[in-house]
Amino acid sequence: MPERPPPMDNALKKVFIKTYGCQMNVYDSERMRDVLGPLGYADTATPEGADLIILNTCHIREKAAEKVYSELGKIRRMKRARAELGAEMLIAVAGCVAQAEGEEIVRRAPAVDLVFGPQTYHRLPQLLARRSASGRAVVETEFPAADKFGELDSKAQPRKGVTAFLTVQEGCDKFCSFCVVPYTRGSEFSRPVAQVVEEARRMAGQGVKEFTLLGQNVNAYHGMDDRGRSLGLAGLVAELSRIEGIERLRYTTSHPRDMTDELIAAHAENPKLMPYLHLPVQSGSDTILKSMNRGHTAEFYLRLIEKFRAARPDLAVSGDFIVGFPGETDNDFESTLSLIREVGYASAFSFKYSPRPGTPAAESAKQIPEAEKSVRLQELQALVHAQQTAFNGAMVGRTLSVLLEKPGRDAGQLVGRSPYLQSVHIQAEPGLIGMIVDTHISGVGSNSLSGHYAGAV
Ligand code: SAH
Ligand code: SF4
Ligand code: F3S
Repeated sequence: MPERPPPMDNALKKVFIKTYGCQMNVYDSERMRDVLGPLGYADTATPEGADLIILNTCHIREKAAEKVYSELGKIRRMKRARAELGAEMLIAVAGCVAQAEGEEIVRRAPAVDLVFGPQTYHRLPQLLARRSASGRAVVETEFPAADKFGELDSKAQPRKGVTAFLTVQEGCDKFCSFCVVPYTRGSEFSRPVAQVVEEARRMAGQGVKEFTLLGQNVNAYHGMDDRGRSLGLAGLVAELSRIEGIERLRYTTSHPRDMTDELIAAHAENPKLMPYLHLPVQSGSDTILKSMNRGHTAEFYLRLIEKFRAARPDLAVSGDFIVGFPGETDNDFESTLSLIREVGYASAFSFKYSPRPGTPAAESAKQIPEAEKSVRLQELQALVHAQQTAFNGAMVGRTLSVLLEKPGRDAGQLVGRSPYLQSVHIQAEPGLIGMIVDTHISGVGSNSLSGHYAGAV
């Protein structure tokens, strides 16, 4: 029997996805591609000429959220130009701004055709169908009860690359007084162990060597295993490290309150668990930590880091900091600097406090002037930068195992990652991509290391 020609709907269409915000959005964008593939959408690297544009957005700070509207302004002009040629360009806003603002997006930017939150993107086929049937904008921001991940798994496309993100936990019940995440991502949820293992096994079969397990509070993970027992993150890491092909595991982001002795011990015992810990603390002042509703003291955090370093002395520690939280005095800020001096960070992300609609801290009368926030941020970043430079500089002369990921900028060069998450540039054959090789570190740049191939590990 002759093969049936593919239906018109399957003619190749192009989708351009722009991702903002955290790694979880990066993961979600990949999964949107999975859902769109069977509908005939192929990925394109530029918005011009795309049939569908998705902005996968972030609401964490005002700047992040406002970027979306300036981007929508540009895209609207492309849409108009395309319409003049008689072609359609659909515009979708996904992610955390979509969840937080919903209908408001269509009011502010009427060119938008679809708005859907982080919990509804597995329904993209239905949303697109509804848009085309009604000819009107479709907004979907509820939190459906159906298992998003379960539905997505049946559509997974092959992964490229040797490193991958894997969301294992989503949502947050902690309600830090500055943060929108509990509102945009919903309440805390852990994926079942078997589902995570299955996804990891599939990707390992496609050549992924390093996984970064993701969650807003990834160390609060408590997934059910096949015997109905609840497994913590340490247990999940142990399960995953038994999968053939998986060489390295990381996890992010952790909350100090959810840390367990088992996870700390895993850093001593499991060679596949990389010596890198991202553990945000936000502030070194107990007064501020209290009004942030973080639920722990600076001392508690410092003792945790001590325990980690006892288990894994070479651990690289990274963190997040907010400066200029309402009511932050010079003394509070000094306490943050002294915590940073005590910990010694390999890297850190720091932000000026940004009041977010609907969060308690935004209502505080004790807001700090922008100029003061800027001064504090500069001082904090100078300190962290010095620590980071010292950390990277100490690598020169050492041999690090580097997972080679992709070609570098220069000919004959590959870029990989050290156990401490540093980018490493080395001269090596493209055939070595996916291998973990011993590398003599000989140079240090502002954000990366360089070295020479010293043999396969
Ligand atoms: N769940 C993680 C953080 C997720 S948000 C945790 O609890 O640590 C990532 C980072 O953005 C936070 O660690 C914080 O430093 C920063 N952030 C969150 N809300 C912010 C706001 N309103 N203003 C400035 N920075 C903020
Ligand atoms: Fe936001 Fe706090 Fe939850 Fe982290 S723990 S996502 S900062 S509310
Ligand atoms: Fe941003 Fe949403 Fe992540 S607000 S940081 S994209 S969870």
